Amino acid sequence: MLKDLILKNRSYRRFFHDKDIDIKTLKELINLARLTATTANLQSLKFMLINNSEENEKVFSCLKWAGYLKDWNGPEEGEKPSAYIIVLNDVEIYQNASYDVGLACQSILLGAVEKGLGGCMFGSVNRDSLRELFSVPAKYEIRLVIALGKPKEEVEIDDVTNDDIKYWRDENAIHHVPKRKLEDLIFYESNS
Ligand SMILES: Cc1cc2nc3c(=O)[nH]c(=O)nc-3n(C[C@H](O)[C@H](O)[C@H](O)COP(=O)(O)O)c2cc1C
Repeated sequence: MLKDLILKNRSYRRFFHDKDIDIKTLKELINLARLTATTANLQSLKFMLINNSEENEKVFSCLKWAGYLKDWNGPEEGEKPSAYIIVLNDVEIYQNASYDVGLACQSILLGAVEKGLGGCMFGSVNRDSLRELFSVPAKYEIRLVIALGKPKEEVEIDDVTNDDIKYWRDENAIHHVPKRKLEDLIFYESNS
């Protein structure tokens, strides 16, 4: 069921590093993005597929992990992602691709979860450094990075209390994600 996939599709930040993800698998995920809706069918997104240890380290060095977990700087050796997808936007085709980026990333991540993988989107990216490390041409805007791997992390969804939306980690390293209640999201409903 779609709900089960969405429930499983958490932001995972610790992985079984020894699980490789091959380029074929990454291409299958990009194919899901290819088939996803885009504004005016412009299809301005391009993707970089990264899965070897040397290049993985380069991408890793450009990411900011879990801003709310102040005493955690990201996964240790052995728990790092196995692969990355860097989502680019060709500004010569379309300048304002934010919705398209979000939709593509969600398709990719749902596809990853279906394959027993998982990941995390990164908006906090040192884009200048990443551009330089991979010689990304100026016409490609670096929009988001998706880290992928076989999740090692247990994640629980809680209700938001006291309006506190910050995720946190308990003493057993279980990651907790507060979500607002359904009734708190509905601004209006028809009286029928
Ligand atoms: C557009 C976007 C950018 C994000 N950027 C980061 C990021 O830079 N670093 C990070 O650790 N998590 C990042 N996240 C993950 C969010 O923190 C995460 O989605 C949120 O805590 C809710 O958890 P959930 O995805 O399990 O529902 C990002 C998520 C989205 C949608």
